[in-house]
Amino acid sequence: MTASAKPVSAALLHWYDRHARDLPWRNPPGAPRPSDPAWPFRVWLSEVMLQQTTVAAVKPYFARFLATWPTVEALAMADDADVMSAWAGLGYYSRARNLVKCARAVAARGGFPQTEAELRELPGLGPYTAAAIAAIAFGARAVVVDANVERVVARLFAIEEPLPGARKPIRERAEAITPRERAGDFAQAMMDLGSSICTTRDPKCLLCPLADMCEARAAGDPARLPIKAAKKPKPERNGRAYWIERDAQVWLVTRPGNGMLGGMRALPDDGWSAQADGSGDAPLPGKGEPLGAVRHVFTHASLTLELVRLEGMPAGEGEWWPIERIDEAGLPTLYAKAARLALAQRG
Ligand code: ADE
Ligand code: SF4
Repeated sequence: MTASAKPVSAALLHWYDRHARDLPWRNPPGAPRPSDPAWPFRVWLSEVMLQQTTVAAVKPYFARFLATWPTVEALAMADDADVMSAWAGLGYYSRARNLVKCARAVAARGGFPQTEAELRELPGLGPYTAAAIAAIAFGARAVVVDANVERVVARLFAIEEPLPGARKPIRERAEAITPRERAGDFAQAMMDLGSSICTTRDPKCLLCPLADMCEARAAGDPARLPIKAAKKPKPERNGRAYWIERDAQVWLVTRPGNGMLGGMRALPDDGWSAQADGSGDAPLPGKGEPLGAVRHVFTHASLTLELVRLEGMPAGEGEWWPIERIDEAGLPTLYAKAARLALAQRG
């Protein structure tokens, strides 16, 4: 039997009713939507955090954000800098910048809009998030496609076209199997199936509620799908950051604007991230002592950041930060690694 709309959603929802993960942002399967006015806020916050980030990594951040800003109105009134440092370590920092902008727009209009089309108009809110909120928070029939859903759908229908070209047929098939009722549970069921059963390397077809309908399983080698077009290798970049210490304090800057790690606290550097070819500016003047290097992989590049201890007064804007409290500075992972390197050598 090949996959068709009714049996797929019925079998999947039946499975979800028994096996749904219990997650802090989640309404139990089949339960009425919470009447709590902050419910759409929690769905939105979790969906923004979960993009490109694992459930395990998101959980503590989600709890801390809610403890600090329990409603969209509270978040709308937050200082940008506090939100940026609360986000530190989660990565993809443009999400945090957009989070505050979006919270302000939502608070200004008196709450989240309920349709996918209106949700899409909010600043920084993309098609995935709009569909996820419409379905999960408001029960609308919206088609939610993340990487888990892509994998399950590509296998169910044995879609041989490589990604990213396969996005269109995958979306059409996802649209065709999305039920009118319980679209939010359906979306989350697909995500749970993709993360626990229909996994990338080792799909557990014997445990799968969709096994009877799955074309890739029938063909014999589901782990092959989805096929991905060969990726270009990431460019290698090099930069230099500076550790400038005085009276048990270290000099930190706030990175400018909307660029890479923009709005985040950081060690001062040679401008590596602003250069198209990744070469930094001339080093800061002063006597430098090399402390080693850290590696960090971003979406679009791999970086080797050399760390140099400088003596003397820093130039430009920044702040002296007590080294004892460096954990509270909200350094993104790259600069937290560099700080650890410097601290390991202080003795
Ligand atoms: N990934 C993105 N959204 C999710 C959700 N609501 N539940 C589990 N994983 C997810
Ligand atoms: Fe994935 Fe196997 Fe289930 Fe098909 S039968 S959806 S390949 S786990």
